[in-house]
Order: sequence, then C-alpha cells, then structure tokens
Amino acid sequence: MSLLSIRDLRTEFTTPAGIVRAVDGVGFDVAPGEIFGIVGESGCGKSATCRSILRLFGGAPARVAGGQILLDGVGDLAAMPERAMARVRGRDVAFIFQDPLTALNPTMRIGRQIAEVIVRHRKIGRAEARAAALDLLRDVQVTSPERRLDAYPHELSGGLRQRVVIAMALALSPRLIIADEPTTALDVTVQDQILRLLRARRDSAGTAIILITHDLGVVSQVCDRVAVMYAGRIVETGPVREVLDRPAHPYTRALIAALPGQAARDADLTPIEGSPPGLIAPPPGCRFAPRCRLARPDCALGAPPALRARTPGHLDACILSEVPDVLA
Ligand SMILES: Nc1ncnc2c1ncn2[C@@H]1O[C@H](COP(=O)(O)OP(=O)(O)OP(=O)(O)O)[C@@H](O)[C@H]1O
Ligand SMILES: [Mg+2]
Repeated sequence: MSLLSIRDLRTEFTTPAGIVRAVDGVGFDVAPGEIFGIVGESGCGKSATCRSILRLFGGAPARVAGGQILLDGVGDLAAMPERAMARVRGRDVAFIFQDPLTALNPTMRIGRQIAEVIVRHRKIGRAEARAAALDLLRDVQVTSPERRLDAYPHELSGGLRQRVVIAMALALSPRLIIADEPTTALDVTVQDQILRLLRARRDSAGTAIILITHDLGVVSQVCDRVAVMYAGRIVETGPVREVLDRPAHPYTRALIAALPGQAARDADLTPIEGSPPGLIAPPPGCRFAPRCRLARPDCALGAPPALRARTPGHLDACILSEVPDVLA
C-alpha cells in the first residue's frame, strides 16, 4: 500500500527562452514509513519534482502540466484546488528547504513561529501552542529549549535553525516529510545529526520521508529506496543496496565512479565529463547518451527509453542493460 503514488508527472517553467520541461514523465511510489531518496546532478529536476507535490514554487513561473500525485486518503494533489492544498501543507505533508532561513521569519521569535503552525491548523490556545512548541524543540534536541523559544532566527547557528525548521515540519505530525537537501548547507557533523533526527522520527512515528540529495553517501546511509534522476526523468530506481551495489544504468554507474572513496585511489576518480542538457530542447532518445561512454547510435533515437524491471522492484531505463555483457 502506497502513501504517495506519483504517475507520469510533468512540470514546466515558462521562460522567455521557451518552456523548460523540468519534470518530464516521472513516477514513483513511497510507502508509509519509508525513506525514499532522489539523487542526481544539479538541474536534473529533483527540486521541481518535489515542489510539485505541494505546489511550492516560490513565485517561479511553474505549473504541473500533467500526471497524478495521489496521496492516500486525500486524493490527487495535482488536481486539488489551492484552498484544499493549503490544508494539506503541513498537516499531511511537510516540506523542509535546504536553507532554513527561507523557511523562517526573521522578525518573529522561534517559539511563536512554531506555535503559529499549530494554531493555523488546530483549535488550541496560545499557551497550549507554546507548550507544544517547547516539546517540539526538545524532540529535535535543541539545547536550552526554554531560552530558544524567545530567540530570533539570526541568533541561532545554521544547525539549530535547521532543527527549528524540522520542529515546524513535525508540528502537525505529517505522514510525509519532503526534505530538499536539508543538510547541504551544514557542516558534516551537524549534517549527520540532522539525518539521524529525521531517521529517528521515521522509526518512532512511521513518518515517510522523501530525501533529495546530490550525495550518494547520504543515500547509502539513510534511504530505503532511491530514484536516480537525469534530465527531468528517473533513469533508475530500486532498493538502495540493489541500486548502489548493482547499478544497471550507465549514469548511476558514472555517479558512483565519481564518488570519492569509491575509486581505488582518489587519482582514479572519474568525474562525469560535461553537464546535463538544458530542458527546453533535450537531446532525442536517451538523454544521457551524449555523455555515455557506452552509447551506440540507436541510443540517441526516438523517445526516451521507459523504465523496465531487471529484477522485481529494481528498474532502469537503459536499452543496453538488457544485454548484460555490454555493461559488465
Ligand atoms: N524558476 C525557474 N525558472 C526556470 N527554470 C527553472 C527554474 N527553476 C528550475 N528551473 C530549471 O528546471 C530544471 C530542474 O531544476 P531543479 O531545480 O528541479 O533541479 P535540481 O535537480 O533540484 O538541481 P539542484 O541539485 O541544483 O538543486 C533545470 O533545468 C532548471 O534550470
Ligand atoms: Mg534542487
């Protein structure tokens, strides 16, 4: 049973240069209590995919142009009027941005900001909401929580601010948390603590999490399943151990080969040459073909290849991976 089921999602940005098809036929499922990773290079559509779920485009000229976003017990978010969507945000699904400052109001004390989230959705008094805010700060292991309630965002470190943002995300006990590179702006130790916090929440409350990252190490450490995105599409998806230990798509293989620590010596690191294509007029056929060392002429023909299962639950979109010795 899926908590979230995305089918053939298409999201577009209208720009003076043309229509950017940032998400071009993406589908995946997230089960209750599952941590689902989305990984890929910059510009591949990870954020656009996840912002589409709650239609959080921050004023960008974006629209969900097609597909379904089915949330269990709620319906198709892609077809939901804005008023109903406003109730879904925070209550059913919460969003954590990369930069905690964009999520926090610089002129409002922390305690009040957390309390507002609760008061907006629940009929409880201010004092009760403040007590709940204090509990939430304790949950996310903020030190001296009583004192922090009266602090302003700029008085806190980056790591503490991100804990506050997570407290706000947890405030209404959503069934799904979407975290878009929640730790990229933080140093490694704090990064680790924040990821532990999210995982602990999943373990204790069964909260499902979609975790966007460009870091395969993070995927390996915390995710159950992963989708690898390239140029607006998923090119491989499956259980994390399957995908990382037996990658089927040349793009996934290239990402892994480019990971420090994977190469025998750092001198053997092979960065992927070039960069992902723009999404106004992406190349025909497999969009990775222009950068793929294994590409054959027929890779660059026709529509992008669809995802197909190699083993149950492990899918990839490479026409060559059917021929095992080509990729061996
Ligand atoms: N506001 C915008 N206006 C126009 N195009 C946009 C806008 N935001 C994103 N895009 C384009 O949409 C595509 C997907 O971008 P997106 O931000 O989803 O990528 P991403 O995988 O999250 O990258 P990153 O790792 O850098 O966060 C890119 O081609 C990008 O240029
Ligand atoms: Mg992004």
